[in-house]
Amino acid sequence: MRLSKYFMPTMKDNPSDAQIASHRLMIRAGMIRQSASGIYSWLPTGFKVLRKLENIVHEEQVRAGHIPMLMPTLQSADLWRESGRYDDYGKEMLRISDRHGRDMLYGPTNEELITDIFRDNVQSYKDLPMTLYHIQWKFRDEVRPRFGVMRGREFFMKDGYNFDVDKDSALHAYNRHMVSYLRTYERMGMKALPMRADSGPIGGEDTHEFLVLADTGESEVFYDKAILDLHLGDRAVDYDSWDQCAEIAREWTTPYARTDETHDPELFAQIPSERQGQSRGIEVGQIFYFGTKYSDAMNAKVVNDQGREVPVHMGSHGIGVSRMLGAIIEASHDENGIIWPEAVTPFGVGIVNLKQGDDDTDAACEALYKSATLLGLDPLYDDRKERAGAKFSTMELIGLPWRITVGPRGLKNGVVELTCRKTGESEELTAELALEKLAKIYQGL
Ligand SMILES: Nc1ncnc2c1ncn2[C@@H]1O[C@H](COP(=O)(O)OP(=O)(O)O)[C@@H](O)[C@H]1O
Ligand SMILES: [Mg+2]
Repeated sequence: MRLSKYFMPTMKDNPSDAQIASHRLMIRAGMIRQSASGIYSWLPTGFKVLRKLENIVHEEQVRAGHIPMLMPTLQSADLWRESGRYDDYGKEMLRISDRHGRDMLYGPTNEELITDIFRDNVQSYKDLPMTLYHIQWKFRDEVRPRFGVMRGREFFMKDGYNFDVDKDSALHAYNRHMVSYLRTYERMGMKALPMRADSGPIGGEDTHEFLVLADTGESEVFYDKAILDLHLGDRAVDYDSWDQCAEIAREWTTPYARTDETHDPELFAQIPSERQGQSRGIEVGQIFYFGTKYSDAMNAKVVNDQGREVPVHMGSHGIGVSRMLGAIIEASHDENGIIWPEAVTPFGVGIVNLKQGDDDTDAACEALYKSATLLGLDPLYDDRKERAGAKFSTMELIGLPWRITVGPRGLKNGVVELTCRKTGESEELTAELALEKLAKIYQGL
């Protein structure tokens, strides 16, 4: 992409209504614009990152054996009356009536709808286990939408639902989700810690939230610092193995890690004091096992291997995809702007032309731009007639992990400058070597 032909309305000054860094930076980098309170348009750069996150979520869901589908944003109120949540959900639910006076709602979540689809189409244990998921816009009429996409009213969420013949099988689904979520966040370049949490309006027995540690997080969290050393890395996971998923889940749930809702000061005090961690966290996902809560209420049954009808065991699992953008920026920025992890950056490398209009420099940039594109590095070429300083500020603000600077002085010696956004370190090398280095870094992400 050439910046002169792109739409990325950046801003020098901080917007006055944005209280936290991720909100300020997303506005300033031209990623989002508010259209109504808690509702945003995703401008091209924001949309690009959102899509990358969505793709990672899809890939990891499918890897775990979960099946993608798509349910609508608008739902009929009838199903919610069946589960009893039409009244329970309160004012957070946006209620609408259509021209025939039928009660509708904009889905805040989909347990009812998926249970309805399941009960109409699945009757036998032989079709289980089954996990269906979708990534779709949700609406919750939050009292105080704030912090940009972090607590919006309309937000993009992956929500998945497992159906199992009994509790043991459903608990495997719970563990399998925990493992696949750990892998998902790691692939995004993030550390999100599973913490024992409270189940809230979804109801149920078992639940963990995944939290990214950040000062601006809305939850207070308490944890054994040992959990920070755990990495899934590239270990091979067999998602059908009950033992392996349970073992990994045990590894991550053994160190103490809880949100303020379930915090137990006595247990916490037993951790050696140098390992006691207390900070704030951003909830980027949550998994639930809730047994037969919805299948009982909505009569979703299957025939088991003894020929008996039993209510299906369920759980639900969510990742806040749009919130994740904010969480990544909260965890990765400095005073000059965003610092994207390579896995989710909107562009792989920025190319800065220090002397736009100079024949040799322009030609070198064009050649570099072509080669980088061919290598799949998805470059953003700043080909505007701007001062070098302004180009550097833009690159720092939008936070591409790598920048190649091309100027007449370097070209005389046959080199360009490669700069790492995170460390600020630069090196001079030939354009070929710079691209080779970047291709290696991006390979396999
Ligand atoms: N108002 C919101 N804005 C952005 N993301 C949200 C919002 N509410 C929930 N999410 C994201 O969706 C995920 C799943 O939602 P859920 O656990 O049902 O929400 P909650 O914990 O608010 O009841 C959350 O972990 C969070 O990342
Ligand atoms: Mg939650």
